[in-house]
Amino acid sequence: MAGEVAIVTGAGSGIGRAIARRLARDGMKVIVADIAGQAAAAVADAITAEGHAAKAVEGDVSREQDVAAIVAAARETFGECDVLVNNAGIVHQAKFIDLTPADFDRMLAVHVRGTFLCTHAVLGPMLAKRRGVIVNIASQLGQIGGVELVHYSAAKAAIIGLTKSLAREVSAQGVRVNAIAPGPINTPLVMAISEDWRKAKARELPLGRFGEPEEVASAVAFIASDEAALFVGQTLGPNSGDVML
Ligand SMILES: NC(=O)c1ccc[n+]([C@@H]2O[C@H](COP(=O)([O-])OP(=O)(O)OC[C@H]3O[C@@H](n4cnc5c(N)ncnc54)[C@H](O)[C@@H]3O)[C@@H](O)[C@H]2O)c1
Repeated sequence: MAGEVAIVTGAGSGIGRAIARRLARDGMKVIVADIAGQAAAAVADAITAEGHAAKAVEGDVSREQDVAAIVAAARETFGECDVLVNNAGIVHQAKFIDLTPADFDRMLAVHVRGTFLCTHAVLGPMLAKRRGVIVNIASQLGQIGGVELVHYSAAKAAIIGLTKSLAREVSAQGVRVNAIAPGPINTPLVMAISEDWRKAKARELPLGRFGEPEEVASAVAFIASDEAALFVGQTLGPNSGDVML
């Protein structure tokens, strides 16, 4: 993978930041894309300070023109994208009865439309050179559902379906598509939930603890590598044993 170009969305924080740092340490040139431009810049600066190649790009993955700008920045700075990690995400908890159409639309826009737009923008060149990797960050809640998270769970299940279907379409042309469905991981997204919930949740995990962002990043580094050549349309579960399929 050394020398190849990666785009990681939502890389200004949490899991995406860990993925960007890991891929850069593995020798890839990394586009750190995030709707939060300053956070993206800080991550890219930290990677650059370690002597690796990174560039921050501000953009909202649900907006077609922003996605075009992210992919163009990658092309102009480092070259065509070899590895796309669709990681950008949001969480919002509400009872189904209280969910508004706007809540639902935004959740699907960031996760599903974002994954669609970013993938669509990089796929053509990948097919042309018959080489590329797409890694979609789903969630175990897309497999088992989550309380007061209907829109989030639906979006993550859609990402798993998108992954499988696209994998069937493009694998023979050299593009591997897989998903990662993490369990609870210590990031700002999860730290926003109450400490009581986090303690109770940790107790019910077979491993007894939440994951760290770097432990998801290592799954991404593996699935993106040629070592994972036989993994096609799979959903890996770095989830502390919470879901066993
Ligand atoms: N933390 C967990 O326990 C957990 C578990 C399963 C799946 N996930 C998934 O992992 C991914 C990363 O989550 P995290 O826990 O690191 O959260 P986080 O909040 O730390 O990071 C998410 C990043 O995505 C960015 N982002 C949000 N909307 C965006 C948009 N429209 N365009 C571009 N960037 C956008 C945010 O600015 C932020 O930097 C998400 O897809 C999340 O659903 C997280």
